[in-house]
Amino acid sequence: MLRLVTGDVAPYRPMALPVRARDLHVTLGGARILQGVDLDVRDGEMVALLGANGSGKSTLVKALLSVVPVSRGTVTLFGADVADRRHVPWRRVGYVPQRVGAASGTPATALEVVASGLLDNRRLRPPRGWREPAMSALDEVGLADRAHETVSVFSGGQQQRVLIARALVRRPDLLVLDEPLTGIDRDSQESLAATLTGLRERGTSVLTVLHELGSLAGLLERAVVLRHGRVVHDGAPPPAAAGHCGPEHEHHHAHEDVPVDPHNPELRLGLS
Ligand SMILES: Nc1ncnc2c1ncn2[C@@H]1O[C@H](COP(=O)(O)OP(=O)(O)OP(=O)(O)O)[C@@H](O)[C@H]1O
Ligand SMILES: [Mg+2]
Repeated sequence: MLRLVTGDVAPYRPMALPVRARDLHVTLGGARILQGVDLDVRDGEMVALLGANGSGKSTLVKALLSVVPVSRGTVTLFGADVADRRHVPWRRVGYVPQRVGAASGTPATALEVVASGLLDNRRLRPPRGWREPAMSALDEVGLADRAHETVSVFSGGQQQRVLIARALVRRPDLLVLDEPLTGIDRDSQESLAATLTGLRERGTSVLTVLHELGSLAGLLERAVVLRHGRVVHDGAPPPAAAGHCGPEHEHHHAHEDVPVDPHNPELRLGLS
């Protein structure tokens, strides 16, 4: 009984949270996109990031992963400050950006794109035995039978699923998804929900940008809602999240994505 008190209770270590952002400010092209965002994602938590078009959701996840520069505030991933990228355990992080093609003009096969998820800054070739985990990640997204086809012939939704497989092959402790449901059909959405259920059982933390909770509604117990670059809700998913969010009128939508190497954002992150 005593062990319960002395041995089994994990020490409170806020710095080791998968994600911890404090007073985060991001300015892009002279516009203030994020204005003082605080966000924690705890071990095993599944968090939806919601908000209208242009509210800053993608910018927030990019700032968390050090893809866009932070003008004020701090971000730590697993206790490591992303300002010094060398100390961040990038191998524990999987990232699926919003709507970038998996192809980017290269003749890589689906299997090769997935295997590229096993690369990091020390490893420019996939590790020995890479085929089996890469195949099983492709199987997870229902594309094992197309493993040897060039991704440039895949549909947008299929490319998205290849990118999800590439994030999964890392067996990440933190998975960051930016609009994973957009452009994928109902069956694929259900299979993504099943995949995330499996990840939850493994204790993986998930932060996912969404427009509507859709098939993930049962999984996501917490929602963070952004509005004009500020957190306006952090708690139970609001009922409105079941529907579709409208555009945020004040902002233009022209600069949707800053240039990220769409072929391998993880590698780009790891190399810096
Ligand atoms: N590189 C950039 N330069 C200037 N403005 C930018 C840049 N990147 C994003 N923005 C602007 O920042 C705002 C937030 O963009 P962001 O992509 O984070 O929104 P979002 O919430 O992800 O929207 P959506 O739901 O459409 O994906 C938008 O007004 C956008 O135009
Ligand atoms: Mg976005």
